[in-house]
Amino acid sequence: MSEQISFEPPRGMRDFYPEDMAWRNRVFDAFRAAATQAGFEPYDACVVESYALLARKAGEEVGNQIYHFTDKSDRHIALRPEMTPTLARMVAQRQHQLSFPIKWTTIAQCFRYERMTKGRKREHYQWNLDIIGEDSILAEVEVLGTACNALRKMGLKDEDDRVRVSSRALLAELLQASGIEEDKHASIFLALDKRGKIPDEGIKEILRDGGIDDNGIEKAFELLNVKDLDGVAKLVSQDSIALNNLRELFRLAEIAGFAGQLVFDISVIRGLSYYTGIVFECFDTAGEFRAIFGGGRYDNLLTTIGGDPTSAVGLGFGDVVVTELLKSRLGENAALPKNGVFVGFMTPDEKDAALKVAAKLRSNGENVNLCLKKMKPKQFFSRASTSSCLQAIYLGPDDVASGKAKIKNLETREETEFALN
Ligand code: HAM
Repeated sequence: MSEQISFEPPRGMRDFYPEDMAWRNRVFDAFRAAATQAGFEPYDACVVESYALLARKAGEEVGNQIYHFTDKSDRHIALRPEMTPTLARMVAQRQHQLSFPIKWTTIAQCFRYERMTKGRKREHYQWNLDIIGEDSILAEVEVLGTACNALRKMGLKDEDDRVRVSSRALLAELLQASGIEEDKHASIFLALDKRGKIPDEGIKEILRDGGIDDNGIEKAFELLNVKDLDGVAKLVSQDSIALNNLRELFRLAEIAGFAGQLVFDISVIRGLSYYTGIVFECFDTAGEFRAIFGGGRYDNLLTTIGGDPTSAVGLGFGDVVVTELLKSRLGENAALPKNGVFVGFMTPDEKDAALKVAAKLRSNGENVNLCLKKMKPKQFFSRASTSSCLQAIYLGPDDVASGKAKIKNLETREETEFALN
């Protein structure tokens, strides 16, 4: 006997039924509208990449999460866990044709063999915004402002979310000032990023294994207690570029109108090793969900893969967490505002008239959902009220005989008469 096929998708993968698709569209529409408003150009690539491009530095969690395999010609390939290496490859390929800075955007399906928790799947869509070839902090401001705008377009309020901002360059300065050598910084960043995910003792062990002595470990942990930029200013020189870049970010965000969304938080480090400067992560203010989006400056990635030195800033914004957050703040069924007309008929004799009304309304630009079978009034109006339509037209024999029918607003119950011809 053949094996029973499960009706479930493979673990961690998702099906999108119409009610799920309504949410996905709401989220994607906001991504696209915000990106377009800010002048980001769309691009795309295949989900399959060469494993060599995606292979990670030791300590990066995502390295153990890559789905990879060899194809029939023994090529080692993988499903991308993120878009950034692919973007770097595409830019490197056209490095001498592109006019920098470029502002590019995509909604990329990504795969990570993760431990499944709330907000984490093994496949997700990730909206990416990247600005390549711009050194100034205006690039950070543009990507952050665009992401905050998308949150507002989805229906979240200012008070629902905050972006926690820090800087790898600043942390590097602080570590240096504490006497910790530069070659140890990368492993310290990746270890400290695990804070809150594993016990502090586990992090200390990783740091010890990385060759950092107890004094260095203590200092690294102490730095995470700094609460604000004034606290930072006491520890670094007034000429600190990293500190001044953070101040510039807050100043420009004030002008752009979203400084209220930003908070300085030195404990934001990010789990990917390619970040070099300002880093950030957005969370819901109630602290219920995982990160909504994350990103930062990664000025060395292009050179790492063999391209010319090129500065870069970007972020990745997944669909999973934000959809959970939207459902909890707006209600499970709030995906789409009601729109369009639900049209039905009582007996087969009114079928042609119903089709004609539907065709006329559609030619006027209305969205019409025409019921394909005759229906009793109660059944029709119960379907109409659970549909995505705002209005309904139901034709019975009397309507066709009189040449007049009614269009009903399903929310206010108000009815307006109209001539069938
Ligand atoms: P990331 O922090 O690994 O960054 O992911 C960015 C966002 O993708 C997360 O904040 C979350 O919304 C979503 N995400 C990641 N993994 C999962 C998962 N397993 N399930 C659901 N959602 C997930 C990056 O990937 C960087 N490449 C972002 C970037 C672009 N940096 C510069 N440019």
